[in-house]
Amino acid sequence: MKLMGADFLLICDEKFEILKNAGILFDKKQILEIGEYDKLIKKSPQNTQYYKECVVTPALCNLHIHLEFSQNKGILNFGNFGNWLDSVIIHRETLMGGDLQETMQKEIKHLLQSGVGFVGAISSYGYDLEVLANSPLRVLYFNEVMGSKAEMVDVLCQNALTRLKASKDFASEKFLPALAIHSPYSVHSKLFSYILALAKQDHLPLSIHFLESYEEREWLEHKSGYFKDFFEKFFNVRMQPFYSVESFLDSLKGLQPYLVHCLQATKEELQKIKNLGGFLISCPKSNRLLNNTLLDLKLCEELGINPIFATDGKSSNDSLSLLDELRVALYAYKEYDVEELAKILLLGVTYYAGKSCNMKVGSLQVGYKPDFAVFRVEAREQIALSLLLQARTAEALYIAGEEIDLGSEI
Ligand code: BEZ
Ligand code: FE2
Repeated sequence: MKLMGADFLLICDEKFEILKNAGILFDKKQILEIGEYDKLIKKSPQNTQYYKECVVTPALCNLHIHLEFSQNKGILNFGNFGNWLDSVIIHRETLMGGDLQETMQKEIKHLLQSGVGFVGAISSYGYDLEVLANSPLRVLYFNEVMGSKAEMVDVLCQNALTRLKASKDFASEKFLPALAIHSPYSVHSKLFSYILALAKQDHLPLSIHFLESYEEREWLEHKSGYFKDFFEKFFNVRMQPFYSVESFLDSLKGLQPYLVHCLQATKEELQKIKNLGGFLISCPKSNRLLNNTLLDLKLCEELGINPIFATDGKSSNDSLSLLDELRVALYAYKEYDVEELAKILLLGVTYYAGKSCNMKVGSLQVGYKPDFAVFRVEAREQIALSLLLQARTAEALYIAGEEIDLGSEI
């Protein structure tokens, strides 16, 4: 049993409760008690640590990353979705070359140093399997499928099954295998049905990039625009979309998918996602860089949708730090009061991220996992805002009750 305390605990519940001079009593499995530090210290006089001038939050949850694309720095083209996708197709082998394993190791260290304890990792190839499974992170490991050619469907289904099985070999309390469908424009309808059936059968979480770009919407709705030329240019085939927006969403009934981006979703479509019991993941920096658009937070609020915030990969970001991500969002959504927005953003990487996967993470409550991030912050009021403005790295990080060695260099 251990006790840790700090000047401020951000509980990260719906009310955004904050406790002052408070402590958390915990073991390796769970949080046992939360309350006044001076009272709790009587229950655990040894094994205590008080973090002065610090704020404790649940370890942050980054539920949408692409670790395999960590080598991108100045290779991919930003500013326009079509130009970006072209550059991904052209450079994807270069991006997977070099010392990818070492780069991913470094990026995991950066994630931990930035206070992230839980990731949703979209794996396109499986190159990130062992490095993630052997890391201190909690991981939802999304085996992603992609492929639009009919003649490839059987091989792609087989490949997905093989990768899923390989990830199941690493399954543990901290590492959960899952599935991802790249997007409606890139996945053949038979591959789609196969993955949906697999997700249902094994009760696996499912993640999908959905309506990220104007180009995707134009393709699904009008069968025209960028994607019409894309398939001819890169695959030498004339293609038709496999789904309408509506039929794609209807196929997801019975699952509670993570739908990532949704920049081009209408109010009715967002309502449909909510009715499915689905979760919306928003990656503001990626959205700015590729599509020059941000999710309409006010509309989400109106519909009672609580977005989860994530970074996406270095394929469309310069950093996987949620602190960087939330800082940018804080400046971008100028219609919100800054402290109110800081709270919404923080709950999107703690409480609502944790709630989506039923893993008892993302909140400082009795019975929740003992995963904490400690940040050095000078503040008396506006604690959420001060945290986002001041914190670059975590002072300490605990996952499964163990303090993680964060090293020194960044
Ligand atoms: C494919 O592999 O078929 C594909 C990849 C990217 C976009 C669309 C299709
Ligand atoms: Fe993504």
